[in-house]
Amino acid sequence: MTEVLQADKAGIAHAAALLRAGELVSFGTETVYGLGADALNAQAVAAIFAAKGRPRFNPLICHYPSTEDAFGHVVTNTRVWTAARRFWPGPLTLVLRRAADCPVAMLAGAGLDTLAVRVPAHPVAVALLRQAGTPVAAPSANRSGQVSPTTVGHVLGGLAGRIAAVLDSGPCPVGVESTVLDLSGPEPVLLRPGGVTLEALESCLGTIRFDPVRPAERLGVAEALRSPGMLTSHYAPALPVRLDAAFVRPDEALLAFGAPLAGTDHVFQLSAAGDTTEAAARLFEGLRRLDQIAGVSGIAAMPVPETGLGRAINDRLRRAAAPRAVYEAPSAT
Ligand code: TXA
Ligand code: MG
Repeated sequence: MTEVLQADKAGIAHAAALLRAGELVSFGTETVYGLGADALNAQAVAAIFAAKGRPRFNPLICHYPSTEDAFGHVVTNTRVWTAARRFWPGPLTLVLRRAADCPVAMLAGAGLDTLAVRVPAHPVAVALLRQAGTPVAAPSANRSGQVSPTTVGHVLGGLAGRIAAVLDSGPCPVGVESTVLDLSGPEPVLLRPGGVTLEALESCLGTIRFDPVRPAERLGVAEALRSPGMLTSHYAPALPVRLDAAFVRPDEALLAFGAPLAGTDHVFQLSAAGDTTEAAARLFEGLRRLDQIAGVSGIAAMPVPETGLGRAINDRLRRAAAPRAVYEAPSAT
């Protein structure tokens, strides 16, 4: 059962309590309805992908009640502050480097070194974020492959019975998603057009790179990896990854799923119980940990079933295991 909560004091307090308890809550923003989970709770974030039926782990936007809250988790500079002063709160998402001590679950950012942060303008969303007291990771609240919802009816049409609650703040006034602007590098790059126009951004920040024919988010993996600059949108470990491992060598690290194979001292357990949601929550953490072990020559990944979030896990592992020549832009090899 999905509760429909009114956007009054009691409804907002209940929605905030559900988020803190690791439940999924859809909430309205000025752009579209988001499907929120506590961004510090990897299991809760994994549940977002399960509820949406997403076949891949796309990086999610983290929502904060204020600029100060958001900027506690990312690396800022003068240009970043200029953008925030002009456009926040509002329909702009900034992609920035994660701060060294950023506590947001790796899965929320799909394992990347960058994090997308946003301070929405909708008063109900802000009240919810303030009361939740935790950053909220939220993609649009639609099933994978469907359009973004702008009313509670749309949300329930796709997700009824799959999420704990939806907070009804009425129809979304903007109706299109936030603009996604990457300010993590030397040059600003528009990754997705949205509620804040390119003209408005350029009047504030100067020239911004944007390819309207092939916006970054519409590129397929192969294409994205052929186009320089897009490489970082897919995290891959430096060590070679061997899939469907049925044995492990002593010089390999083991990414275990279920009862671990014997043979190495370096083991990261994705889920002892063989639970794909738990494994998804730990995947990027595990790859990063194993990648940092000195003297190890590769990562042996035990098989994960193609059910539930196993599909998304395998998608990511297959990409990590593919020959590097296929997946790296010429400039990076
Ligand atoms: O208006 C919105 O942005 C809504 C509301 C709920 O805030 N959210 C939304 O989320 O549209 P979603 O997940 O549907 O779209 C997030 C976009 C995707 O294009 C994703 O690739 C991009 O943001 N994104 C997130 N993190 C990123 C990162 N670290 N680097 C590059 N792109 C990122
Ligand atoms: Mg979406």
